[in-house]
Amino acid sequence: MKMLNIACGSRYHKDWINIDIIADSPLIKKVNLLRGLPFEDNCFDVVYSSHYIEHLSEYNAKFVLKEAHRILKPGGILCLIDLDYNCLSHYNIPKKLKRTLFAIMKYLEEKANFDPYVGRKLYSFLYDLGYQDINVDVAAHHLIFGKLKDADAFNWFKKLEVVSRKINLQFEEYEGGYEEFLEDFKRFFTDPGRFTYTPVISCRGRKPLL
Ligand SMILES: C[S@@+](CC[C@H](N)C(=O)[O-])C[C@H]1O[C@@H](n2cnc3c(N)ncnc32)[C@H](O)[C@@H]1O
Repeated sequence: MKMLNIACGSRYHKDWINIDIIADSPLIKKVNLLRGLPFEDNCFDVVYSSHYIEHLSEYNAKFVLKEAHRILKPGGILCLIDLDYNCLSHYNIPKKLKRTLFAIMKYLEEKANFDPYVGRKLYSFLYDLGYQDINVDVAAHHLIFGKLKDADAFNWFKKLEVVSRKINLQFEEYEGGYEEFLEDFKRFFTDPGRFTYTPVISCRGRKPLL
């Protein structure tokens, strides 16, 4: 079996061919996926991608998937995993905070090619390529209720802090700018009465034989 993990990051396995633009292990081959896949046609049994397509414009996503399709053997499996409704699904969230979170994600969507809604698109990507036996699973990537765990606090506070500093957003509804927004988010997120989840969608299908 010949298996390829594209944009593997730190999740790689010795039995796979692992590729990423950052190759910080001898088990990873350095490849810029936006320049195409350096493999011949019809040579892999499995191509796997997780948490990568969300970082691509729709044009680039389709280019990378076409390349994955090209190098898969007929009957081979393409498996895609990504989040949906990324960072946006909360209950008991104050309206101002919710509007600002949506504004941040919209900014990333429009200016940084980040797709918070890519999970729901994976099925259609495979369907449009003519894949067969498509199977879809949905699970909770984040599922946060009750007392906030240290790992969730670190993960969410850090990513919002880094993103808020980097982007050129006015945080119009907060007089104190992004710092006041972050305080508001921390207040909301540490309240054990809030509920947060993020769906992770995995979708796999078989390349047609003909
Ligand atoms: C969010 S990480 C996901 C890593 C891993 N697949 C996982 O599920 O944890 C996205 C990965 O895409 C890689 N990447 C980004 N642009 C790339 C490109 N043009 N070519 C290859 N890899 C790229 C990054 O280096 C990073 O490792």
